[in-house]
Amino acid sequence: MTAQDARLSRINNKTPGMTILSAAEEWLGSRSFDGEIRQMRQEDLPLIEWGCEYLRYRRVYREVFRNSLNGKSILWVAVTSTGEMVGQVFINVNPTHAYKLIPSQSMLLSSFRVKREYRGCGIGSSLLKTCERCASERKIGFLWLNCSKSNQNALTFYRNRGFEIFRSDPGDWQYIDHNGNIRREVDPAWSLCKRID
Ligand SMILES: CC(C)(COP(=O)(O)OP(=O)(O)OC[C@H]1O[C@@H](n2cnc3c(N)ncnc32)[C@H](O)[C@@H]1OP(=O)(O)O)[C@@H](O)C(=O)NCCC(=O)NCCS
Repeated sequence: MTAQDARLSRINNKTPGMTILSAAEEWLGSRSFDGEIRQMRQEDLPLIEWGCEYLRYRRVYREVFRNSLNGKSILWVAVTSTGEMVGQVFINVNPTHAYKLIPSQSMLLSSFRVKREYRGCGIGSSLLKTCERCASERKIGFLWLNCSKSNQNALTFYRNRGFEIFRSDPGDWQYIDHNGNIRREVDPAWSLCKRID
């Protein structure tokens, strides 16, 4: 086990909603993340819009949050000590449409992102480890996600953390934006999965 793995392991052996302050400070060195990873709360909903950048997904996020209240999803956020929302990942607990492709119960990750100025500080790795721990605790065999084919940085990030491509996805979906208009986004993606022990 590498030193980084050992630190990640210590961080992620904590309980859900744990603060990663002290371990993260040690881990991140000069670019320390003075904050916590915790489950999302209703009052966080405006903050995950990152100003106007993700305003168009307001209704989608509200729906996902409602799902989290009845156990269909688990939403993790990374928040600085000053309350700035700097990262997030959503877990869909029961994505039945994956069963034909992945031979086990699985969890689907989505909306995974870290604010640009906080990238490379280990926050993404910690969010991912948190998801892996969630899956492991529930005896879920696989995590999977879709990643844009043009997003080489993220593809490398996932592959370096044990994810493998298992199919091509058209990445064609529709949603209703904050103004009530139907929007379509097409972004061809790779689906990647990782076995969780
Ligand atoms: C991919 C992402 C979530 C990783 O979060 P992060 O906090 O930067 O991740 P970490 O600091 O734990 O790890 C950094 C690793 O990601 C890589 N990386 C990917 N994109 C990066 C970026 N824009 N800036 C810095 N590092 C990046 C680094 O090379 C590093 O790789 P390595 O440790 O395997 O050598 C984040 O870069 C991000 O939000 N990217 C834009 C949104 C996105 O692509 N989301 C995924 C959609 S499927």
